[in-house]
Amino acid sequence: MDHDDLTIGEYEEGDLVEILEIDKDSFPTPWSPELFRNETANPLSRIVVGKALQARRRAVVGYVIFWRVADEIHLHNIAVRRELRKRGIASRLLSKVIRDCRTEGARFVTLEVRSSNLPAQKLYESFGLSLRGVRRGYYTDTGEDALIMSVDLEQLPAGAEPLSGLRGARNGNSA
Ligand SMILES: CC(C)(COP(=O)(O)OP(=O)(O)OC[C@H]1O[C@@H](n2cnc3c(N)ncnc32)[C@H](O)[C@@H]1OP(=O)(O)O)[C@@H](O)C(=O)NCCC(=O)NCCS
Repeated sequence: MDHDDLTIGEYEEGDLVEILEIDKDSFPTPWSPELFRNETANPLSRIVVGKALQARRRAVVGYVIFWRVADEIHLHNIAVRRELRKRGIASRLLSKVIRDCRTEGARFVTLEVRSSNLPAQKLYESFGLSLRGVRRGYYTDTGEDALIMSVDLEQLPAGAEPLSGLRGARNGNSA
């Protein structure tokens, strides 16, 4: 995949099958099609999808699911196709979500992440999120703790783009 080939846009009905494939390959307890459909019907919920040319057609390579509630972005899920990880796709997706929501007035980003999920924690830290608390045994499938991470976008360096200096932001203009 050529990095410049990535396009980022809102979820479309035809994306569901590929999102479910990525989800199944990414999480111990994948979401069911029904859960996804409920999510798409929920007016608070938004799904942002990254696509790239794969085998001569544009395929879903990653997605983010989040809720926009008042001035908060609550991130529920982010995943990238396994063979395309570590190329900046998640950064591009998050960069787009945060930039757009900030323009619409969002101030806080918050999420829960499995305590063992270091790649995701590193990703979130690179966007300024930090540890705020622990929910013991939050994940019922494994009994694992959830780390609560968040950032107040207004507390990031004055006048700076929240994502400046990050690979995702540098390449984010086409998103
Ligand atoms: C977490 C995930 C979304 C990251 O996607 P990605 O496209 O590979 O991430 P990026 O390439 O944009 O990486 C951005 C930063 O995240 C961190 N990171 C990503 N993968 C990492 C890894 N395997 N180990 C350590 N840090 C990692 C790094 O800080 C990286 O910056 P760098 O490349 O400059 O070091 C991906 O690993 C994934 O889909 N995991 C399975 C699903 C999941 O756990 N989702 C999060 C919970 S909701």
